[in-house]
Amino acid sequence: MKSKKDSEIPAGPKSGFSRRGFIGVGLGSGALGAGLLEQPATAAPAGAAVVGPQAVPITLNINGKPVTLTLEPRVTLLDALRNYIGLTGAKKVCDRATCGACTVMLNGKVVYGCTVFAIDAQGKEIQTIEGLAAPGELHPVSAAFWNHDAQQCGYCTPGFVMAATGLLKDNPSPTEADIRHGLGGNFCRCGTYMGIREAVLEAADTMKKGRPNNG
Ligand code: FES
Ligand code: FES
Repeated sequence: MKSKKDSEIPAGPKSGFSRRGFIGVGLGSGALGAGLLEQPATAAPAGAAVVGPQAVPITLNINGKPVTLTLEPRVTLLDALRNYIGLTGAKKVCDRATCGACTVMLNGKVVYGCTVFAIDAQGKEIQTIEGLAAPGELHPVSAAFWNHDAQQCGYCTPGFVMAATGLLKDNPSPTEADIRHGLGGNFCRCGTYMGIREAVLEAADTMKKGRPNNG
């Protein structure tokens, strides 16, 4: 994803086509809306297993522990974590694969939790910010964020910490440009990007030296 400099934070829509106007158009388009609603449901391909729409039992492996719950197949991994399991570290902001606040790891790869159905995360290792370090300890990336005051409201921070941890896993010696690029899928409305980049550089150094950094 494209990286953004501090000065490149999206400033919002510039055209005269406002979000409110768009919603108004949508609500006023009765014929179009009705037409869409009347579309028949797409049939599943022959031989495909169909689950739902009712809740079904699923098992997720979260931070090394199996968790069994009953969920409708439409529930995202993010909603499962936050609303059904009580792991609220991953945040729900855009719910549209845009902000990165919901970042978690799936089999060691950074993903947006709002774009994965919980049912599809079965059989995979899910890691959340809660599982990054032992209770009472700080992962070097979290500690570096603390050291560099790399948060204001903190709402984006768990997502950035997870994205940075994934970045350092793939690239233990990132340049500042690598960090800009690697964290380009995460947004901070408070504009703490400079502190975040410094934190990631410090965490890289700490992790390469193999010493803990508990702040
Ligand atoms: S809440 Fe998932 S990317 Fe914004
Ligand atoms: S610290 Fe507030 S959104 Fe990033």
